[in-house]
Amino acid sequence: MDRPAEQLSSGQVALRRWLAADADLCLRLVTESLDHLRPWMPWATSGYDLAAAQDFVQRCVADWAAGTAFNYLILSGDEPAGAAGLHARIDPGGLEIGYWVHPAHTGHGVATAAAAALTEAALALPGISHVEIHHDQLNLASGRVPAKLGYTHVETRPQTRFDHAPADSRVSKVWRITR
Ligand SMILES: CC(C)(COP(=O)(O)OP(=O)(O)OC[C@H]1O[C@@H](n2cnc3c(N)ncnc32)[C@H](O)[C@@H]1OP(=O)(O)O)[C@@H](O)C(=O)NCCC(=O)NCCS
Repeated sequence: MDRPAEQLSSGQVALRRWLAADADLCLRLVTESLDHLRPWMPWATSGYDLAAAQDFVQRCVADWAAGTAFNYLILSGDEPAGAAGLHARIDPGGLEIGYWVHPAHTGHGVATAAAAALTEAALALPGISHVEIHHDQLNLASGRVPAKLGYTHVETRPQTRFDHAPADSRVSKVWRITR
């Protein structure tokens, strides 16, 4: 099975895959980011604890082995700054990018650089012809990321795949870029 590299970079941003030993780091980053994530990420609740972080990093390792998702820690300079990943959860031949950024690092192009690195890595994989980014239509900051990277807005549709987050309109915008 073809997989992207375990480390990627774009501009000032580096990505490295999450490892099983990263649960404490994951917990710290999520806890510090919770107020900022809660409106848009259904899993970002006040109950987020070490067990949730351990579950996340273990799933990252299992998904990487299965080829179903490739999840990375984002580093800006040398500082942990968020998370981003490629997910095999759209049609065959496509991968979907997800991302979030620690509030101390937002507004500096971190999500855009991470998504640029993931887009390039995804489109270099044999069998991958397109990459998508989905976000709630009210999440304007998230929507700037695919727009800045030259993705095309292809659809606006009800969001039925995941639990809803507090600020969701429950309508997603879908952006796509093709090899
Ligand atoms: C969305 C998010 C990932 C953006 O991260 P970031 O590193 O700040 O993103 P970038 O700096 O690459 O780009 C952000 C863009 O959004 C714009 N922006 C920020 N807040 C905004 C707002 N409230 N309304 C409109 N645009 C906004 C910025 O100006 C920038 O656009 P510009 O370069 O054209 O000026 C980050 O805010 C985040 O983690 N949010 C919470 C979790 C989340 O929503 N994840 C995405 C789920 S689909």
